[in-house]
Amino acid sequence: MTAPATTVREAVAREQLPGRVWMYSNYHCNIACHYCLTESAPGVPRRDLTPETMLDVARQARDLGFTDLGVTGGETFLMPRMPELLAEMAEILPVVVLTNGTLFRRRLLERVQVLAGLPVALQISLDRPDADANDAMRAPDNFRKVVAAIPALVERGITVRIATTVESIEDVELDRLCALHRGLGVPDSEHIIRPIISRGRAEDAGYGVHAAQSDLPAELTITADGAFWSPFGPTVRNGVVDTDLLITRTVDPLSVPAQALLALVGGRDPGADSTLNIR
Ligand SMILES: C[S@@+](CC[C@H](N)C(=O)[O-])C[C@H]1O[C@@H](n2cnc3c(N)ncnc32)[C@H](O)[C@@H]1O
Ligand code: SF4
Repeated sequence: MTAPATTVREAVAREQLPGRVWMYSNYHCNIACHYCLTESAPGVPRRDLTPETMLDVARQARDLGFTDLGVTGGETFLMPRMPELLAEMAEILPVVVLTNGTLFRRRLLERVQVLAGLPVALQISLDRPDADANDAMRAPDNFRKVVAAIPALVERGITVRIATTVESIEDVELDRLCALHRGLGVPDSEHIIRPIISRGRAEDAGYGVHAAQSDLPAELTITADGAFWSPFGPTVRNGVVDTDLLITRTVDPLSVPAQALLALVGGRDPGADSTLNIR
């Protein structure tokens, strides 16, 4: 008799499989960062998931034993129903949503108020403590918009995290960045720093480090083009989605890519992916 297959729930409990399922809500963006791994920009194909699909993925993820959800893009808050969708997703599992933080003017701030007190964190990109250096890699006026949005969200009771993506950063510059985010109301525990990965636009521009599959946490990632190993998998090069980290084209039922991922992580030790600190 063959041994019963390991379930997602068991693998997550053993920390062999990360508990978070990511979804790419869309690929288009209001800006075009120089190192963007998805080549996102205003005019690119959207490759979006409908809100109904995202809620369905969330429910199936919970039922399989995953513990958390992540939403990334593209710029996630370009999707028209994003605040309300996140509130619905948070009834299913806790969510982190990645955003460039540039769209939070008065109307959107009112709408995201629905997320106050819910298990939803907005992870906002902020790379440098100075406008010139930050905006050189991201977009003109990016720094000003982000440092205005963060306290406005914190004041409304919304959990904010900061993501810093850099090739390298001197200690003194990092100290100033940390002083800045603390002053904006975001504690050190909510600040992550990661290297630029040489994929998408970063690869064309010669930025970043090469990340092999074994360097990337095996986080199941659902897109309009299929299921991938890690949110750093479904990147775009010359307008085409990379398939080197594609797991399955099938995403429904979610058990199909989940079982395929389980088979791939079978022989891995917990923590085997943490050398490059890609989070
Ligand atoms: C692709 S963006 C999508 C969400 C949102 N548009 C934003 O910028 O936060 C997700 C995160 O990936 C980071 N990122 C973009 N290109 C990257 C690369 N080549 N290597 C590592 N991280 C990258 C961004 O800075 C951001 O923090
Ligand atoms: S990193 Fe985010 S904000 Fe910058 S271009 Fe890519 S998707 Fe847009």
